Amino acid sequence: QAALVSVEQLTNQDVLTLIERAEAFKAGATCQLTRPVYAMNLFFENSTRTKTSFDMAERQLGLSVLPFEVETSSVSKGETLSDTLKTVQAIGVDLVTIRHSQNAYYKPLLVDPNFHMALANAGDGSGQHPSQCLLDVMTIYEEFGHFEGLKVVICGDLTHSRVARSNMQLLHRLGAQLYFAGPAEWFTAEFAQYGQHVALDDILAEVDVVMLLRIQHERFQSAAPMTDQQFHDAYGLTNERAAKLAPHAIWLHPAPVNRDVEIADQLVEAPQSRIFKQMHNGMYMRMAIIEQLLQQKGLIRGSENVSIN
Ligand code: CP
Repeated sequence: QAALVSVEQLTNQDVLTLIERAEAFKAGATCQLTRPVYAMNLFFENSTRTKTSFDMAERQLGLSVLPFEVETSSVSKGETLSDTLKTVQAIGVDLVTIRHSQNAYYKPLLVDPNFHMALANAGDGSGQHPSQCLLDVMTIYEEFGHFEGLKVVICGDLTHSRVARSNMQLLHRLGAQLYFAGPAEWFTAEFAQYGQHVALDDILAEVDVVMLLRIQHERFQSAAPMTDQQFHDAYGLTNERAAKLAPHAIWLHPAPVNRDVEIADQLVEAPQSRIFKQMHNGMYMRMAIIEQLLQQKGLIRGSENVSIN
C-alpha cells in the first residue's frame, strides 16, 4: 500500500528525506508524472489549511483534483467510507487524502485487497495528523538545523490533539527533549512516556520551541472545564510569558488559532511566531508526501525511488 497514515511508520531518515524534498520544492523543483493523475480530498471533518494545502500541492505537482463535498455526496444517504472510496477508485481516482473523526479509520483500508489508491491521512479523530507533524518538524529544522537536544514544550488540549500525538512521537524519536504544559488533568500516562508535565512559567526560559494547541471544544463530551479567559490566564502564551523566552525561541500553533485563548492576539504575527510559516511550509511538505506516494505507484517519471513503508 502506498499510504502515509501515521508518523510511526517513518524512519528518521524518511523524515529528513521528506524535509529535503519539501525544501527542494520550496526552491522551485518540479517532478513529472508518467500519465494524467487524479486526486480527491475527502474531508469528513472541517478544514481550511490541510484541505487547501493538499489541493494546492496536488495542483502544483500537475495532478487533476476532483471535487468532493461530504454534504452533497451519497454519504448523506448512508454510503460507507469503504464504498465511497471504492466508488471513486472505480471512476479513476489515483490518490485520496482523507480526514475523518474516527480514530484509525484507515486500518481496514490498509488490509483491503480491493483498495489500490494512494492514501494520505489528513487527520483521524484524536489519533494522527502526519502531514501537520511533518510541516512542523520542517519548520523547526529550518530554524535550528537539527532536533537532537532541542527543548520543546507542547501546551494545551493534549487529550484531544492528534497534532500532539504525532509530534510527541516523532520529535521524541528525533532526539528532542519534550515537556507538556496546560491543565494537569489533560496530561495522561500516554504523554508521560514522552516527557514530564511542567508549569509553562517554569520552563519558558529554557525552551527552544513552544508548540501551542487549540482547545477542541467540539470534542469535549460536556463543556470544557474552564472558560477561555481562565485558560488564557493560567496556560496561554501571554505577552508576559513570551517575554520570558530566549530571543532565539519560536512558537508554533497548528491553527486555527483561538486568539486570546491559547495565545495573545498580538503574538500570532509577532517576530518569533512561525504560525504562518508553518502553513506556507505545509504546501511544500504535502508536495513531498504526495510525490513519494506516487513514486510507489510508478506515477512519477525519473525521480529517485524513495518509499514510505
Ligand atoms: N492545522 C489544521 O489541521 O488546520 P485545518 O483544520 O484548518 O486543516
